Amino acid sequence: MSDEEKRRWKGPTGNKGSSGRQMDERKVFAHRAKSESSKKWIERQLQDPYVRKAKDEGFRARAAYKLLEIDEKAGLLRRGQRVVDLGCAPGGWLQVAVAKGAAEVVGIDLLPVEPVAGAHIVQGDVNDPDDVARMLKGLTGKPDLVLSDMAANTTGHKQTDHLRTVALVEMAVAFAVAHLAPGGAFCSKVFQGGATKDVLEMLKANFKSVKHIKPPASRAGSPEIFVIAKGFKG
Ligand SMILES: C[S@@+](CC[C@H](N)C(=O)[O-])C[C@H]1O[C@@H](n2cnc3c(N)ncnc32)[C@H](O)[C@@H]1O
Repeated sequence: MSDEEKRRWKGPTGNKGSSGRQMDERKVFAHRAKSESSKKWIERQLQDPYVRKAKDEGFRARAAYKLLEIDEKAGLLRRGQRVVDLGCAPGGWLQVAVAKGAAEVVGIDLLPVEPVAGAHIVQGDVNDPDDVARMLKGLTGKPDLVLSDMAANTTGHKQTDHLRTVALVEMAVAFAVAHLAPGGAFCSKVFQGGATKDVLEMLKANFKSVKHIKPPASRAGSPEIFVIAKGFKG
């Protein structure tokens, strides 16, 4: 227990009623759990070779290697493409798209993103048509590739987190189907064993091929996996 927690903690003989005491106990446990998970996160970051590699190679996020590895297997990124990156902060995937020679790269995120040379970035919500329109102003035509690494902040409540993630994937698929150029491709982070039945059906109806990839840079313990759809029927 920290000194602050000790100061606040009245103990079982403290002067609070039982419900107040229970509340204090819960707060202490929640705080402890949070600092434990932060500690674990810091330890994992320090030991993670991808974090070091990203720092050495100038990528803003270890996530950059997920896209590079997906691209190695699926051949998504080509010179001269128009690329959209949904949920682009802090900008690792934008950097990869630019480095791979995309002609036009645009991205959107709820969070602010430091500029990336060669990319048009908008702070906004994929759900908001005005924000999406501002992002699309950075393209001179329909995108050839739509990427989405969008993830919602987790609440810790499994079902809520699952529903939020599914909603983001559905949003990304809807965006891709509405905007992609014929022949275009789509890559999105999905969770829990792959795309849901509805998403898979939508992708299969609109693309020639659909598959899942778990890149090595995606932590083994993470339920994250990526769905790749190619050959947009337009
Ligand atoms: C895992 S991060 C993306 C990392 C990124 N691919 C990179 O390489 O730097 C997921 C991002 O999705 C964003 N996001 C979640 N919901 C969003 C929404 N509705 N609209 C825009 N961005 C969203 C979050 O703000 C977060 O920054």
